[in-house]
Amino acid sequence: MTDTDHHQHGRGRLHGRLTPHGHGMGPMNDPGRYERVSGHLSGRLYRRVARDVAALRLPAGARVLDVGTGPGTMPRRIAESAPGLRIDAIDVSREMIGWAQQRATPGVTFAVADVAELPWPDATFDVVVSTLSQHHWADVDAGLREVRRVLRPGGHAWVYDVRWALPQEESVTASLGTGTSVVRERRLARTSWLNPVGRLVLRPV
Ligand SMILES: C[S@@+](CC[C@H](N)C(=O)[O-])C[C@H]1O[C@@H](n2cnc3c(N)ncnc32)[C@H](O)[C@@H]1O
Repeated sequence: MTDTDHHQHGRGRLHGRLTPHGHGMGPMNDPGRYERVSGHLSGRLYRRVARDVAALRLPAGARVLDVGTGPGTMPRRIAESAPGLRIDAIDVSREMIGWAQQRATPGVTFAVADVAELPWPDATFDVVVSTLSQHHWADVDAGLREVRRVLRPGGHAWVYDVRWALPQEESVTASLGTGTSVVRERRLARTSWLNPVGRLVLRPV
């Protein structure tokens, strides 16, 4: 976590003022500052996620979605580690996407969108990732249903976040219904020296 606007009760409500884009006060209202700070504090996590995606050895043109991309660090790292992928990255904040779009990166497309209403048809993506964003989603169940909906058969959805903010496997399974394997990994190697990050893994079955 790099921002100071932590949630009350893990999700939905932020301390401080809410803006129409879902932000509280703090570095997330300044994309450039957020990018600098998160580059220092979350660098190990970004490297780990980029390695995880590269390890899948997806074919050229395979599709990846980054949800809650912020300033766009994660999709750029993925594009560097696994060239040839077609990467979309969304954020509910127009400011974040405006900042991310200032640096064109081959293979990466940014758009403003809410995870609860993803603008793609069912079964579009081979991989969906999200880093440190889920605890900000206003409706986590709706967001995870959308993440699952856009996942192709055989695909992977990896939601990385502080582990105490990740929902329990049972509640996600109940919300998604049959047809999805849900695993909540509490401790991930090589994400941070304090190691607060866990991962929710969704897979079509
Ligand atoms: C702490 S930042 C993480 C940014 C980036 N993923 C990273 O790891 O540095 C959380 C991001 O999630 C975005 N976000 C919050 N709610 C969202 C939603 N419902 N849909 C899409 N993005 C959302 C915020 O605008 C913010 O940019």
